[in-house]
Amino acid sequence: MRLSKLVLALLLQQSVLASRPAKRHYDTHDYYVLEHNPSADASLDECAQTLGVEVVEQAGELQNHWLVRTTKQQLSSRDSQDRVLRALDAIRARAQSPTYSRSEDGHLSRRVSYAVKYLSRQELRQRVKRAPPPISPGSLIDAPTAQEVAEQQQILDPEFTKQWHLVNDDYPQHMMNVSALWEKGITGKGVITTLVDDGLDYNSDDLAANFYAPGSHDYNDHTDLPTPKLFDDHHGTRCAGQIAAAKNDVCGVGIAYDSKVAGVRILSGPISDIDEAASLNFGYQEAAIFSCSWGPPDDGRSMEGPGYLIKKAMVNGIQNGRGGLGSVFVFASGNGGRNGDQCNFDGYTNSIYSITVASVDFKGLHPDYSEACAANMVVAYSSGSGNYITTTDVGKNKCAHTHGGTSAAAPNAAGVFALALSVRPELNWRDMQHLCVQTAVKINPDDPDWETNAVGRHYSYKYGYGALNGVEFVNAAMEWESVKPQAWLEMPAIQIADGTMDIFQSATGGETITQDGLTSTMQMTEDLLEEHNFEALEHITVKVWITHTRRGDVEVELVSPNGVKSILAAKRHGDGANTGYPGWTFSTVKHWDEDPVGEWTIRVSDQGKEDQSGKFLGWTMTFWGSVIDPQQAKTYDVPVLEATLPPLYDNNDESPSTTTSTLEPTSSKQYPKPTEHLPGDHGEAPGESDKPAFPGSGDTDATKPVDDVELPADPSPSATHTPTPDEGWFSDLSNLMTNQVWFFVALGAVALFAALAGLFFWRRSVRRRKNYTSLPAGDDVAMSSVGGARSGPRSKELYAAFDEEDDEDADEETGLRRGLGESPAGLGFHSGFLDDDDPASAGAPLTKYKDVPDHRDAERSQSPASGSGSGDWEHASQEHAPHS
Ligand SMILES: *[C@@H]1O[C@H](CO)[C@@H](O)[C@H](O)[C@H]1NC(C)=O
Repeated sequence: MRLSKLVLALLLQQSVLASRPAKRHYDTHDYYVLEHNPSADASLDECAQTLGVEVVEQAGELQNHWLVRTTKQQLSSRDSQDRVLRALDAIRARAQSPTYSRSEDGHLSRRVSYAVKYLSRQELRQRVKRAPPPISPGSLIDAPTAQEVAEQQQILDPEFTKQWHLVNDDYPQHMMNVSALWEKGITGKGVITTLVDDGLDYNSDDLAANFYAPGSHDYNDHTDLPTPKLFDDHHGTRCAGQIAAAKNDVCGVGIAYDSKVAGVRILSGPISDIDEAASLNFGYQEAAIFSCSWGPPDDGRSMEGPGYLIKKAMVNGIQNGRGGLGSVFVFASGNGGRNGDQCNFDGYTNSIYSITVASVDFKGLHPDYSEACAANMVVAYSSGSGNYITTTDVGKNKCAHTHGGTSAAAPNAAGVFALALSVRPELNWRDMQHLCVQTAVKINPDDPDWETNAVGRHYSYKYGYGALNGVEFVNAAMEWESVKPQAWLEMPAIQIADGTMDIFQSATGGETITQDGLTSTMQMTEDLLEEHNFEALEHITVKVWITHTRRGDVEVELVSPNGVKSILAAKRHGDGANTGYPGWTFSTVKHWDEDPVGEWTIRVSDQGKEDQSGKFLGWTMTFWGSVIDPQQAKTYDVPVLEATLPPLYDNNDESPSTTTSTLEPTSSKQYPKPTEHLPGDHGEAPGESDKPAFPGSGDTDATKPVDDVELPADPSPSATHTPTPDEGWFSDLSNLMTNQVWFFVALGAVALFAALAGLFFWRRSVRRRKNYTSLPAGDDVAMSSVGGARSGPRSKELYAAFDEEDDEDADEETGLRRGLGESPAGLGFHSGFLDDDDPASAGAPLTKYKDVPDHRDAERSQSPASGSGSGDWEHASQEHAPHS
């Protein structure tokens, strides 16, 4: 019986895997993603039937995730509950209700609720290209010819000599430097790059020979071929041309002109999370590189990242893509530099799984549109100072001369990676990152944005580790020995003055942020590293919980034990959001290879305005790097719930699989057409090499350390403040009770019920966990069921809360409740927190800061409190308002 079920499931899966994605019909159907627990009793079909949905296919490349659908529902405002999610809620309620316990129905409900690990409704949203609009080419500068290279290598492409990014006659020190590799026959053979974009003109004479159809798909129009159809669907084609335009007599050549390109079209209309997730894994056994020149708006006020399924797809990509070597994700850093935007407010560019590429222009200057942040890994050449990128355009024999932005920087980097993988196909995704760090070339050595990090490398928020250089990169790749598997070490979260944030993003506790700033420290020890099989540091991610009435005023920085500082958030003049940072994750690559042992200090400050203030509630950090012992390497799993403080569980744990559902659209907004986001004159973008990216940041002298309040029942001697990462917050019942007190107070009677129910099922699941190795999923987080039992806005928030950091509109709608979140302090639970202040130690840890260049102080005194960029935020928001 069981066996036959298994065989059936396998067969089903096989046939699904072999076929192309089914056509979606969002106009007539509602789509959901259902994660099925294969070890559960209820089969997928049984679950689908019970929920009233039909199974379409496996959801992209995510195992045990299924795209399911039902006929479209009219959601009136009065009855705004989604039928399918309501059905799941009812099933869960029945599964848990004693009334039904013996009935047939109760039995079925229990089996189904164990089997459905996750269910979310798919909404369409628009991703934003980092593209230039078609602009008048009146001001193009004709670069002098690269005639010699063309003659030596018989390059007949008529526009080759205009491709200064390949051979720069004016500024020969500034180019991708790949022609010497071509001479050696390194031209990208055998490597496939997927352009996740707005299509790819495979009929172009410049691309036809190098087009890889099996790896291509159109997720906007649900067809196999990624045909550009809209008037401005030229972005993907231009990016593809930079990588793989053929060496022939059309336009110019690509950096890896014998490599292949596939096109996955997602930017030409709204797209659901699961289709975006699938697109990032499309054909990922064959394709090595996924070049992504898009993301959330670059308006200097958005803060958005990939949703759960998309994150999962990225993790799936690096773990399982390319036969386990991992997909190489390349992301454009963003074009919002003029809006004061920073790539650390974009969850794609600051993902550790992506190589983030910013721009440098043909003179080697930093163009003002290119975003700075501590997640920038390298720069590649693109538009600015009066020059653009020349590449293939849509059409049979067409050439584009106005391409640019960080959109064009990312494919130039992808082209170099393709060259490297053509000679070393066995290098993994992290090898490519290491090679970036090690071989990027320092440009503009006098730029004050450069700093020397703890291992003697140069790092800049504007340039990352420097300009990517083909010859340097590929030569190093030829010798490179693969790094050991990835290790990670998630530190226990520190709660500041009992700071908490629940799934509704309601906050309690925390300490008021001041202009002088608050600091908090975390201790990394040799023992912890060893315990976690952690050898050498690569990325660091830092998650913060901060409430603030004006997010753009908040600055966050991290200082290493060796005194190296990473600015994670500098002021953003345009960011007036009142949502703070509800568990937002920043990242930094600046500490690569640094010895992490010792005290890490976070500093949070604001402008000290009375009417714009907030609280620092807590933080945590995760160290990513390589393992000591490859035999003991673990596989990372993306947690469903990430944004609560204290965290509900951590990754090293055998995490309970949490079921969430999204009732309402998490994003009803349509992003404006992406071409709006790159300044129209990006080719004319003034460049500079004499300004720090974040002037005014780093005034740390007066910072006041907060005493990190110890959590109840702290079981760990190895970390000073909190339990070791392995011991989740729910390690025993009393711990749970204490930690949940905030929850009871904040949410009142209804929520009290929710918490009790949660507690009840948590206890059950703990009991279960002792008895079984794998935990049935259905009843771990009963909150969504409880939420579903209520109607109206409350339950909507409940669902939306699972979607954390994702959405500004939702944030705005629920801002009210967040504002109320701090009220319980009046009840006396946290009244003692100020006692923990110790003025005597104020500023003490900060004397170690060593990497603030002296002239910054001078600059600061000239322009007090000036953020990056200029202009007022009203202007920025107007710009954002009525697009398209
Ligand atoms: C490009 O590579 C050559 C070696 O082939 C090197 O001599 C030259 O300096 C490099 N140019 C740049 C701009 O790095």
